Amino acid sequence: MRIDVLTLFPEMFAGPLEYSIIKRAREAGVVAINLVNFRDWARDKHHTVDDSPFGGGPGMVLKPEPVFETVEAVRATQEVKGPLVYLSPKGERLTQALARELAALPCLTVLCGRYEGLDQRVVDHLVDREVSVGDYVLSGGEPAAIVLLDAVVRLLPGALGDDQSTEEESFSDGLLEYPQYTRPAEFRGWKVPEVLLSGNHEVIRRWRSEMSVEETRKKRPDLLIGPKAEATHE
Ligand code: ADE
Repeated sequence: MRIDVLTLFPEMFAGPLEYSIIKRAREAGVVAINLVNFRDWARDKHHTVDDSPFGGGPGMVLKPEPVFETVEAVRATQEVKGPLVYLSPKGERLTQALARELAALPCLTVLCGRYEGLDQRVVDHLVDREVSVGDYVLSGGEPAAIVLLDAVVRLLPGALGDDQSTEEESFSDGLLEYPQYTRPAEFRGWKVPEVLLSGNHEVIRRWRSEMSVEETRKKRPDLLIGPKAEATHE
């Protein structure tokens, strides 16, 4: 998969892209992540990317020209076309289902906003999907883009080690994951549930499935409501 990230702060991605699963996925050629600073595409000598809003008001708004020109230049280098995702608190919520949808694409372009926002003509005529990582406001799209990249890249075939799977984790079946334990079997008097020491895989599978529903009922009952949840878990 190829992911182009358009940002005014490519340096913010250095840490997150250079560790753990994303690092390995990049090294293994599972994903190529290309950071593009759209300030480089601002034509004036000060490389201006923002201006005050028409109609007045506080803050600055990202100008359309550098964003359009960067996206057009990046698209010209993409062999396969993919959607342009703009990170914004106004977008549809990032869910595991959306992460899976994006991970199935061969190519993705991610646009990070800053300041008070982006000229609406970019959203109306260039952006394919506006995506939010939650109902709170970040100081820019970069931390949200890092969340999105992580959620997508770890789902790519070959990104996780052989012994790791995304099939049994939270949200994969619309439920939260069952509790996990490791050695010691007793720690400070707290014992691991007996069933996990039984060696009986069918009994363990059933216990995990029950715990998964129980965790969800306790912590995220909203996930159990709705047509999909009813069909799967009734
Ligand atoms: N940019 C600022 N806040 C954001 C959010 N909650 N999600 C995505 N992008 C953002």
